[in-house]
Amino acid sequence: MKAASGSAPNPDHRPGSDDGPGSDQTPASDDLTTVRVPGDKSISHRALLLAALAEGESRLEGVLPGADCQSTAEALRALGVEIPELPVDGAPFRIRGVGISGLRAPEGPLDCGNSGTTARLLLGVLAGAGVPATLTGDASLLRRPMRRVTAPLDTMGARFREEGLQDRLPIRVLGEGEFRGGRWLLPVASAQVKSALLLAGLLSGRPMAVEEPGRSRDHTERMLRAMGVPVQSRWVGLAEGAEPGQGGGERGTASLEAGPHTLRPLEFSVPGDPSSAAFLVALAALGGAGPGLRIEGVGLNPTRIGFLHVFRRMGVEVEVLPDAEAEEPVGTLVVRPSKLVGTDVGGPEIPSLIDELPLVAAMAARARGVTRIRDAAELRVKESDRIAAMATNLRALGVTAREYPDGMDVEGTDAPLQGSVATWHDHRIAMAFGILGALPGCWVEVETPEMVDVSFPGFWELLARVSASPAPRPPASPAPRPPASPAPRPPVVTLDGPAGSGKSTTARAVAERLGFLHLDSGALYRAVTLALLEGAGSGKGRPEAAWDDVTVAELEAFDISLERDGGGFRVRVGRQYPEARLRTPEVTERVSRVAKIPAVREWLLAAQRRTGLEGGVVADGRDMGTVVFPEAEVKVFLVADLEERARRRLAETLGDEAQREMVEAEARRLASRDREDAERTVAPLRPAPDAVELDTTDLTFEEQVERVVERVREAQGRT
Ligand code: S3P
Repeated sequence: MKAASGSAPNPDHRPGSDDGPGSDQTPASDDLTTVRVPGDKSISHRALLLAALAEGESRLEGVLPGADCQSTAEALRALGVEIPELPVDGAPFRIRGVGISGLRAPEGPLDCGNSGTTARLLLGVLAGAGVPATLTGDASLLRRPMRRVTAPLDTMGARFREEGLQDRLPIRVLGEGEFRGGRWLLPVASAQVKSALLLAGLLSGRPMAVEEPGRSRDHTERMLRAMGVPVQSRWVGLAEGAEPGQGGGERGTASLEAGPHTLRPLEFSVPGDPSSAAFLVALAALGGAGPGLRIEGVGLNPTRIGFLHVFRRMGVEVEVLPDAEAEEPVGTLVVRPSKLVGTDVGGPEIPSLIDELPLVAAMAARARGVTRIRDAAELRVKESDRIAAMATNLRALGVTAREYPDGMDVEGTDAPLQGSVATWHDHRIAMAFGILGALPGCWVEVETPEMVDVSFPGFWELLARVSASPAPRPPASPAPRPPASPAPRPPVVTLDGPAGSGKSTTARAVAERLGFLHLDSGALYRAVTLALLEGAGSGKGRPEAAWDDVTVAELEAFDISLERDGGGFRVRVGRQYPEARLRTPEVTERVSRVAKIPAVREWLLAAQRRTGLEGGVVADGRDMGTVVFPEAEVKVFLVADLEERARRRLAETLGDEAQREMVEAEARRLASRDREDAERTVAPLRPAPDAVELDTTDLTFEEQVERVVERVREAQGRT
């Protein structure tokens, strides 16, 4: 990578080959097929963005034309930068930068599509530049957390307005307030957050320092340095000679002094994406590409190739042949079929292979023994909940896979893998199962295969060309062929409402009528309360005064999970199913306090969301439609007037005989509970913007149930 001004052509530069990225080349003399993969997605986003902000004309080559980078290019166009169509073959093109302060406010919302990198990097850019704009995205992106970026920026003076749900897009960058810069410690290593903060520092000219507990990809830092901005990176705790994730205990700091800064234009050839190459390495290692593959022009940035270390531990024979050293290292990977064994993946190596973990789980299905993936809770907030998606899909193919809050166990098998899988609109889930489906004897139908365009356009064509057995194809044996178009997923139904609105009884009856599962979220909160009181597995409770400081890790140790059980879910705490003990007065008195502890809500969120992955769930609570299932197809918010709610509550214990004064007293209690629920800072009670309000004051219970069932049937009729 070089700044363009006066530089010689990059010695490492590979002219846009006629073959184009991903295309097949002549088989080499050793019978290995030589291939290339499309440009690196992370680097392409940054190249487009930084070239747009440079003073002068940059020349970029090998930019990924995938849907995510198209989203970045389109957003930059809306911000006033002229960007040509991204060439489908990675051919070179030029961008005339508008300079650090040259972005103009867009006319409409910036649609980031499926791309978390576009959204998060732009939040930093716009906040630092003080340019007002609204960012939005597709259904998957609207589910992904954004406060990890906006919270630090807000603390440093930038102003945002969440226009949908808390912590989610759409978000408006207000372009007001004075951005002061600062120092931020990330709770989880993240290149997107680190980059967003550095970019905010760059555009505002304010100092910025970001510290992270691990080593996330460093493309932004490298590219900024190549463009003349002195970004400092420091790694503490990395053993000499060790690669990221292999030395243990390292922490990283990236910092930028106060500006003003200017960016020199860039002359840059984007290397092939190692995350895309990983799929081909896996295919060849598992014997799905004949004698093997030679993959040329692959980016070998040490913060990205953790997968090679893990693959080797699994027995993959892969040779790495580096090209001449450049700012972003590049080289060739040579892979031959091998016998694979399970391994343990976790700890500091996770950030260096975060995007390859779904593939590791898929390979584990073909490796002898058990593969354990841990410390990877971030997978739950990627383009899909990748832990749930992989485990569910592997099970659909007959593989034993167990989920954990931060990972999964997968048991290898030699049995043919056959069946259909869902992708949850996630490109990497689609490709991981594409690889399994291309192995001899296996057949996997992948729903929404076009999702691969996000990062690897041409994936299926390349796979068909290099795979030993053409895929996909119907099973040879009498294994039942899954339906060509899978039945539509049944909807997720949310029922929220104030205390005494009858949500829980209604939800149970609706679920029964529809043959759906009933998710009683209250039971989970009660289970946590019980575990805090009794200490679950440890047998030792936690002093009540210290409940608010409980951490996610401690909650994980309680080993609470929801298990499917007939028409609903059963709560398991450790090895017990404490149904009766969840309703004791000790638990009842404390549950609403426990439900307000942020760590409790965060941890339980994932458990609840997983129950909705396959649809066909009726969930009741206070934030089911707003926070837990923002994408639910049917959302109902139950209301009833105070007295009626008070009467219903009392009727549960006293029958219809309650005295007028008792009803009035109960109504007062409910009114104060309503106020508390609406005003609390954590998940306040309010209807989701797309919820239907159902006033049940004058309805019988049967009528309430009927109204909700009608809504669900309508929604099913629309699919
Ligand atoms: C990316 C960083 C990673 C990765 C994502 C792309 C980037 O996410 O998973 O696909 O380009 O910066 P995190 O920032 O959450 O680690």
